[in-house]
Amino acid sequence: MTHESRLARGLGLGGSATVLAALLVAGPALAANDNSSGSSDSSGQAPHLAVTESDFDKTPQGQQIERYQLTNRNGMSVDIITFGARVQAIHMPDKNGKDADIALGFDNVKDYIDHQSTYFGATIGRYGNRIANGKFKLDGKTYNLPKNNGPNTLHGGTKGFDQMIWAASPIDTGNTVGVELTHFSPDGTMGFPGNLAVTVRYTLDNDNDLRIHYSAVSDKDTVINLTNHTYFNLAGAGSGTVLNQVAMINADQFTPIDKTLIPTGQLKSVSGTPLDFTTPKPIGQDIHADNQQLKYAEPKQGGYDFNWVLNSDGNLNKLAVRVSDPKSGRTVEMYTTEPGVQFYTSNFLDGSFKGTNGNTLGHWGGFTLEAQHYPDSPNQSNFPSTELKAGQKYTQTTVYKFLPE
Ligand code: GLA
Repeated sequence: MTHESRLARGLGLGGSATVLAALLVAGPALAANDNSSGSSDSSGQAPHLAVTESDFDKTPQGQQIERYQLTNRNGMSVDIITFGARVQAIHMPDKNGKDADIALGFDNVKDYIDHQSTYFGATIGRYGNRIANGKFKLDGKTYNLPKNNGPNTLHGGTKGFDQMIWAASPIDTGNTVGVELTHFSPDGTMGFPGNLAVTVRYTLDNDNDLRIHYSAVSDKDTVINLTNHTYFNLAGAGSGTVLNQVAMINADQFTPIDKTLIPTGQLKSVSGTPLDFTTPKPIGQDIHADNQQLKYAEPKQGGYDFNWVLNSDGNLNKLAVRVSDPKSGRTVEMYTTEPGVQFYTSNFLDGSFKGTNGNTLGHWGGFTLEAQHYPDSPNQSNFPSTELKAGQKYTQTTVYKFLPE
C-alpha cells in the first residue's frame, strides 16, 4: 500500500481527505527527512533500534489506544500513544546507569481526559498557545473560537488535537525508528477554517535524538501553530522540583505579556530580568524575583510561562535550549525550525493527582520546551506569520537531544 493511500485510509474519509492526503505526501520534504538523522554506525548497521506496538488502554467509549515504544542501543526508550499523538514516557539511564522516566505522564486514558489541562506530552493544535479573546481575522473574515483559558483560547480550544485518537503506523528507516501519526481535522473544527490533514512523525536514533517532524495541508487559508507539550524532569518524573536543574535559553528577547498571558506585541530584551537565561543558571535562581512579568505568569509562588524569541531563528543546526540536571547528569537540548519557545515550569500542577507509577506531580515538577510561533500571532501583525495558505504545506522539525553526562 502506498504511503498516500495509507494516510487516506488512516483518515477514514474520502473526498477532500484523500486530496489533502495526496498533497501532504507530495514533494521530497518528508522523504528527505527519513534519512536525515545520519546515525548509522561505521558498519552501516544501527543495532538495537526497535519499534514495538502494544495495546495501551481503551477510551471510556471502548476505542483502543495503541502505544509505540521506540528503543535505541543506549538504553533509551520513548513511548508514544495514539491518544493525542503524545509522548507518554521517556526512559533514560543517569550517569550511574540508573533508569528513570523523565517525562510526566499517566498510565491510562481516563487520567489524560480528567487532567486534560495539563496537556502532558501531547501534540498541540490547531493553534498552540493563546489566541486573544478567542477570535482572529483572516482574509477579511472574523473567526470565533471556544474560550478555554479566561477570555482566551488556549492550545486549539476545548477539544484540541491532544484529545483526538490518531491513526498510526511504525517507521523503520534503518538508522531511525519511529511512528507516524495522522489526523484529519474537518473544516470549522473549534472554529478554525479549512479541512486540515496533519502528520506527526516521531523518530529516535542511536544519537539519542528524538525528532518530531510535523506537516499539514489545508484546503482553505487558515492559521496553524503546532507544538509538543512534553514536561521534562531530568531527575525523573515525581522526584521533586526542577528548580536545581540548569537552563540555557538561547534568546536575547522575549514577548512580554499582559495579565491574561497575551503578548503586548513588543519584543523586549531579557537583559537585567529574571528571564535572562543566556548564561546557564538554575531554573529556581530568579523564580521568586519581584518582577511584574513573573507575577503575571504565576501570581502566587513564582514561575516561568513565557515565549522566548530564539536567537537560533529557525535554524535547526543552532542550539535553542539546553537544560541539565547536575545530580543525574542528564541533559536535554532542543533544536527547532520554529522562531520561539514557551518555557513553562508547571505552575498549574499542585500535587493533587498522581502520574505514571503513582508519581506525585507538584508545582515546578517539570518544565516544557514548546517550540512554537509566538502566541496570538493571528492578531499581531508584527509577529512572524502563522497563516497557512490553501494547498501549501506547513512543516516544522523539532529535535530533543538527550545527552548522558
Ligand atoms: C502552556 C501555557 C501554560 C499552561 C500550559 C498547560 O505552557 O502557556 O500557561 O496553560 O500550557 O497547562
